Amino acid sequence: KTINVILSGGVGSRLWPLSRKSRPKQYLPIFEGETLFQKTAIRNLSFCEELLVVGNVDNYNLSRKDLEKVGIQYYREIIEACPRNTAAAITFAALASHPEDILFVTPSDQLIQEGEAYEEAVNRGILLAKEGFIVTFGLKPTRPETGYGYIEAAGEDVVSFREKPDQATAQRFLDQGNFYWNSGMFCFQAGVFLDELAKYEPNVYLKSFTAFKQINGNFLREDLSLEIPSISVDYGVMEKTEKIKVVPSHFVWSDMGSFESIYDYLVENGYPKDDLGNLVIGTDKHTEFTGLTNTILIETDDAILVLRKENSQEVKKIYERLEKEK
Ligand code: GDD
Ligand code: MG
Repeated sequence: KTINVILSGGVGSRLWPLSRKSRPKQYLPIFEGETLFQKTAIRNLSFCEELLVVGNVDNYNLSRKDLEKVGIQYYREIIEACPRNTAAAITFAALASHPEDILFVTPSDQLIQEGEAYEEAVNRGILLAKEGFIVTFGLKPTRPETGYGYIEAAGEDVVSFREKPDQATAQRFLDQGNFYWNSGMFCFQAGVFLDELAKYEPNVYLKSFTAFKQINGNFLREDLSLEIPSISVDYGVMEKTEKIKVVPSHFVWSDMGSFESIYDYLVENGYPKDDLGNLVIGTDKHTEFTGLTNTILIETDDAILVLRKENSQEVKKIYERLEKEK
């Protein structure tokens, strides 16, 4: 069977102060009243027989509420004691499945236009997964974004997978023309994934396995989880596996992972900005910018952030510093 695994354990540190530990970005009802998490679950219902949410102890209630609101009753959940990144999160999902089950792994922080292009891509991905491949979905890059993975492709074959290159490298990939952005969604058989992980990241495999064996209902134990190396699936598996394929895709996709992508999304959808590209999020107060371009001001109840959209990746550092100072 095919299982939609929704990864929902990130804190969304690059969207501070909109996104908080207590309310990560995927649970903000800011997209026509729906959350990105809800949209993800609904979007993939038709491809999958089952839903499995891998979230964490701080947010599983938000997931439950969200699913209840959209009438999804039957799903499984795995609740992490602490985030150990996506390699571990996907491993738990694979361990909770039959080795031949197809896992369609989706992040919970993206906006995707449903329709023919999406259906085609997912169906092709599932087919390739049935043949034993680890499938990625490639999108045409439009800027040298450093927060994404890049897939060097020849048709559906992958020449190389490069996670989060620096700006100059990303620009080179763009110029070269045969690179896609990695969408962050993956499709593979649970058993194939575990084999590849065991081969390339044996310690992640072993420690995740040990933690999963001791799962208490849906809850993982913190002491055992802390032993798991924190590494993303992109670095841990995608950069290394030779079983990788890419489905070149054409659906409209935006990752709501940084203020730069939110900015682009808002502007494309007619959100007001001034002549020099400055805009305001989260307040109705009259705001003027002078001497500034492409600047975003974000106001919440207890914080204000002002940044140039090109510096969006640095918000994560602010978040991390504030967490440390707590
Ligand atoms: N359960 C769980 N546990 N989920 C997690 C964890 C964790 O420890 N860490 C992250 N996630 C979830 C996030 O909530 C998000 O939905 C998804 O996994 C991806 O994590 P991100 O932290 O958002 O990854 P990224 O944006 O830096 O990079 C990934 O996505 C890009 C596209 O948006 C990579 O796959 C890139 O290659 C890709 O281009
Ligand atoms: Mg992301």
